[in-house]
Amino acid sequence: MIVPSAMTEPETRPPVAGEPARAEVLGLAALPSAVPVARYFAHALLGAWRLAEPYGWACRQVLSELVSNALEATGEPGGAPLRLETCDVAMILLRFQCSPAHLIVEVRDGSSECPRVSNAAPLDESGRGLALAGALASEWGVYGVAQGKVVWAAWQLA
Ligand SMILES: Nc1ncnc2c1ncn2[C@@H]1O[C@H](COP(=O)(O)OP(=O)(O)O)[C@@H](O)[C@H]1O
Ligand SMILES: [Mg+2]
Repeated sequence: MIVPSAMTEPETRPPVAGEPARAEVLGLAALPSAVPVARYFAHALLGAWRLAEPYGWACRQVLSELVSNALEATGEPGGAPLRLETCDVAMILLRFQCSPAHLIVEVRDGSSECPRVSNAAPLDESGRGLALAGALASEWGVYGVAQGKVVWAAWQLA
């Protein structure tokens, strides 16, 4: 008999010192809907984790920028889609990690191009997303993975 292990709900209390960091992963098709879905997921998850404002708000703003960038880099035609073995559509992966000390949000896409911070002039209509992420998060960065890269933002909570 096959008995699946139970799908669990996210914790509904703040993280406690000494516990391993919590993590949740969300895979999204690389479609424009990924942006509002990512924002809604962050709202629900950080609410469940009882993360005090303004972290939830800042996290949603940064996610909007990072997911939009990931879509632009991987959207077809011309992008570099992350195709998972199990799934033949371009994907964006999100990972949220939380401990009493840190919140880390990661956005993985299939392009190996690195983000480049622009110095947008006042009348430029684009080029402010990464600057905004840098202003709203404690730190942000990029690391490479086998197929693409991960852009992350982190907040020091304590
Ligand atoms: N995930 C990404 N993959 C590849 N290139 C990226 C990514 N994110 C950002 N970039 C590059 O960095 C530039 C600056 O991004 P950003 O500050 O968000 O401004 P904008 O998206 O308005 O151009 C983008 O134009 C793009 O060339
Ligand atoms: Mg952008």
